[in-house]
Amino acid sequence: MSFPITRLRRLRGSQGIRSLVRETTLTVNDLIYPLFVTAGTNVKEEIPSMPGVYHLSLDLLEAEIKEVRQLGIPAILLFGVPESKDEVGSSAYQEDGIVQQAARLIKKTAPELLVVADTCLCQFTSHGHCGMVHYDAECGTAEILNDESLELLVKAAVSQAKAGADIIAPSNMMDGYVAAIRSGLDEAGFTNTPIMAYSVKYASAFYGPFRDAAHSTPQFGDRKTYQMDPANGREALREAEADVTEGADMLMVKPALAYMDVIRSLKENFDLPLVAYNVSAEYSMVKAAARNGWVDEKAVVLETMIGFKRAGADIIITYFAKDIAAWLQEN
Ligand code: PBG
Repeated sequence: MSFPITRLRRLRGSQGIRSLVRETTLTVNDLIYPLFVTAGTNVKEEIPSMPGVYHLSLDLLEAEIKEVRQLGIPAILLFGVPESKDEVGSSAYQEDGIVQQAARLIKKTAPELLVVADTCLCQFTSHGHCGMVHYDAECGTAEILNDESLELLVKAAVSQAKAGADIIAPSNMMDGYVAAIRSGLDEAGFTNTPIMAYSVKYASAFYGPFRDAAHSTPQFGDRKTYQMDPANGREALREAEADVTEGADMLMVKPALAYMDVIRSLKENFDLPLVAYNVSAEYSMVKAAARNGWVDEKAVVLETMIGFKRAGADIIITYFAKDIAAWLQEN
């Protein structure tokens, strides 16, 4: 009788040996937790399509921040739901805008907690697009203007940095946004503020619950003239290349689950820290299945996270961050 020479099961025989040969690890230091801040007082409103995720008013932010810190999560990603919107997203770059107020408060409450500011216009514009819109009444068309939008995005980024944001994360997908924001930050004296570029952001159906949460659904058309076609992988490298050339400090792939190949190819082609955004519908789908008793939430979430890391992500933005931090403490 002949025996197999290679027995892969030898290295799987016990918890101890499995830990010894484990290739990939997940720690709390890998995580960024997104937060939605809103106007008003005493507002803690659950987002219906994202159970466990809330709109929080500033007065309730302190308690939340303390909890995040206690769990050891190093960074939060800040989204604002403003009181008023207009054509040019003014509330995105007001000194007392909701994001700016929240950033100041968080830096006062927990100076060591990193504030990552999402820099976009869609939550702040009445039309819900990520840039400025030019309407042609005669033709009945509307176009998202690129270079004009850059000016507004630079204003937003600089005002966020002034308010104390540690990292600027532009998610608008205009061409040249990294170069524009980099020079705007530098001129304003924020030469050391890093840019986490949403380099590869697809026009995805997986943002649905977020748009409920951020009230940022486009009022007409879609985002396909600026966000990427899900069918394109090579173009992802061109997007990332452009951002690296323009001075990005970190690269992001978004969404994550359906784009693991893109995470891997960016990892192989660039040496910048790589971020995966585990987006809203990726969260909601697991929540819905778990609520029905169809999947084991903790096991599925931890397996997904280790999958992102194995694919090449260094950092994960996820609505599960608080749960994961608690689970990692249990183990
Ligand atoms: C804003 C922005 C979006 C997300 C993050 N920043 C939505 C969009 O592009 O419509 C999505 C995040 C998520 O789905 O969790 N540009």
